[in-house]
Amino acid sequence: MNSRDAGLYIALISVHGLIRGEHLELGRDADTGGQTKYVVELTRALAAHPDVQRVDLITRRILDDKVDPQYAVPQEPLTPKATIVRLPCGPHRYLRKELLWPYLDGFADQILQYFQRIGRIPDVVHAHYADAGYAGTRVAGVLGVPLVFTGHSLGRVKRQRLMEQGVDAETIEAQYHITRRIAAEEFTLDAAELVITSTNQEIEEQYALYDNHQPRRMVAIPPGVDLTRFRPPRRNEPDPPIKAELIRFLQDPDKPMILAVSRADERKNIGTLVQAYAEHPRLRELANLVVVAGNRDHIPDMDPGPRDVLTDLLVQVDSYDLYGAIAYPPHHEPDDIPDLYRLAAKSHGVFVNPALTEPFGLTLIEAAASGLPVVATWDGGPRDILKFCKNGLLVDPLDPDAIAAALLDALSDRERWQRWARNGIRGAAERYSWTGHVKFYLRALRKLLDKPARPPAPCRIRARRPAPDRLLICDIDNTLLGDAAGLRKLKERLRAAGGRVGFGVATGRRLESALQVLEEWEMPVPDVLITAVGTEIHYGPALEEDLHWRRQIDYRWKPEALRKALRGLPGIRPQAATEQRRHKLSYFVDPALAPSVEEIQAHLRRSNLHANVIYSHQAYLDLLPIRASKGYAIRYLATRNKLPLERLLVAGDSGNDAEMLCGDTLGVVVGNHSPELAPLRGRPRIYFAAAPYAQGILEGIEHYDFFGSIRIPGDKETKQCTPA
Ligand code: GLC
Ligand code: MG
Repeated sequence: MNSRDAGLYIALISVHGLIRGEHLELGRDADTGGQTKYVVELTRALAAHPDVQRVDLITRRILDDKVDPQYAVPQEPLTPKATIVRLPCGPHRYLRKELLWPYLDGFADQILQYFQRIGRIPDVVHAHYADAGYAGTRVAGVLGVPLVFTGHSLGRVKRQRLMEQGVDAETIEAQYHITRRIAAEEFTLDAAELVITSTNQEIEEQYALYDNHQPRRMVAIPPGVDLTRFRPPRRNEPDPPIKAELIRFLQDPDKPMILAVSRADERKNIGTLVQAYAEHPRLRELANLVVVAGNRDHIPDMDPGPRDVLTDLLVQVDSYDLYGAIAYPPHHEPDDIPDLYRLAAKSHGVFVNPALTEPFGLTLIEAAASGLPVVATWDGGPRDILKFCKNGLLVDPLDPDAIAAALLDALSDRERWQRWARNGIRGAAERYSWTGHVKFYLRALRKLLDKPARPPAPCRIRARRPAPDRLLICDIDNTLLGDAAGLRKLKERLRAAGGRVGFGVATGRRLESALQVLEEWEMPVPDVLITAVGTEIHYGPALEEDLHWRRQIDYRWKPEALRKALRGLPGIRPQAATEQRRHKLSYFVDPALAPSVEEIQAHLRRSNLHANVIYSHQAYLDLLPIRASKGYAIRYLATRNKLPLERLLVAGDSGNDAEMLCGDTLGVVVGNHSPELAPLRGRPRIYFAAAPYAQGILEGIEHYDFFGSIRIPGDKETKQCTPA
């Protein structure tokens, strides 16, 4: 199925917003910003690389009169190798990203089934933002392929910023579901093999807020910038229109030009720049200062922010008597900006960005591409740019003398100036183009893929001929077993249904103990036994173990270190030695004393340990590998056996059943369930039976007509079941 030699198959996932190939509706709402543009451009750029055979950009399918019908088209080709794939995710209508959380398990299952339909598994899954991170983690976990994550923006940073603005925690929670988002980010970081950011600052400062801060798994690769309009000046080029505008201000317009381009925003720190220039006679003698700070008509009518910045500027010009030495044109057209960079380059000038903070620094990249050296604030964006381009100097934006010294320095050595100009042109093209991005991207990816290819998995459910076209999977204790009369009836129904219906169990017990208790209750050996909370799979009747599964879930599993990390936590003590399995560490918990699951997770993550922590019956705690659970196991099984997930009916009663009940499978929670399953009530495709034990399973079978034509009541919005 995997033919990496023919070229890579990369699956990008970006769930929210409105994504299409042409005419992106940027800025239509909070969900249609930079990320949508980023993922579409990345998709195209990746597909253009010869080592890449196929790229799918997977997003949510939306059918809603309020948005363009294009967003309902299941497949939109972008290039011969790239396609936007739209899959159902909850209701049809357009939803803001904060409302998508309950539907992401189903979305992950839709993605798995999409790969099943096309008969190909991607070499890598790359998820964008927390929501896709959650779904992508599930998908990559089931398939056993590497996960790449790009957060775009992060919940912990957002929460911090809102708190600083004085928004209270409750409002933040109600509006942004920020806890859910942060949990999804941590969950994704548990599994991600590579995190791609745009700047090093994100790695050093933003991801540092996470329990899972692992800088060595993170790499900054800036996105491509459209630099087609920015190029160095050519010999004998006629003066551009904006030159006439500058001549009105400047006594000697041919002096080297110190150019600043920014919004008229206090944070852009224009005042300190003007002060630096004005207070250093040598600088005034050597160069002109050109400040381009947006367009203005009548300053007193402007918003207070830009009004104050511009008024201060005029006052400074007057009090320092800068007449004839500084230009601050009131108007410019978009096309004047590239011309300004070129004019400054032609004058052997310098571009200056003295902003108080600069996370990215687009203008610096534009200046570099124009062959204009730079002096810039020493914040994250400029640091990255200058590290790579080597085309100027960094300064403390609050120190006017330092700014003046750097400007003088940059202007004084002509030979070095030439070198900086050349470095900038080359650096911008290499580092800040999508072609450059893809080069670094694939280099990082190859390190993940160099690991040996996965061996094929031979195991299938082959107990029955013909192979079953649907599968009933039951938890054992307190679900299948508990009521003898109900069990007898269920056994009868199963026998009557014949070979079409496969039967499996998914239990916390180990294999021998599961077989023993099934025998005590006179149940036949199931077609498949998922034991030790999903960490072991055996196929009946010969009880052959799925060794591929065992290898796949070994990912990031460090049992010794985990055991050590749990030692000494209050209210937690190990279960008997027989319950400890290769991929399952089990404990008894006293809920009154023990830390919460979240606290345990955070504790592990901070020690660079990763585990799926599962709490059941208010009494048991299991630590499993992050890619193992009953939920992962049944999806793996369905994928291997080419069964759509809606042909799996799963029944359970307690916490370790939760993951298999969520998503596209048909879930049944028996009447006697434990309280930890209560939050699943109302979730799509989870039926809460009134009857307990096997009677409850029978009730669920009726509810879905599972032995008949399979109906999914109340499921108008998601895809209806189609025959396998
Ligand atoms: C079963 C297992 C036990 C586990 C529990 C919850 O009782 O024997 O080890 O902790 O299920 O998954
Ligand atoms: Mg149970």
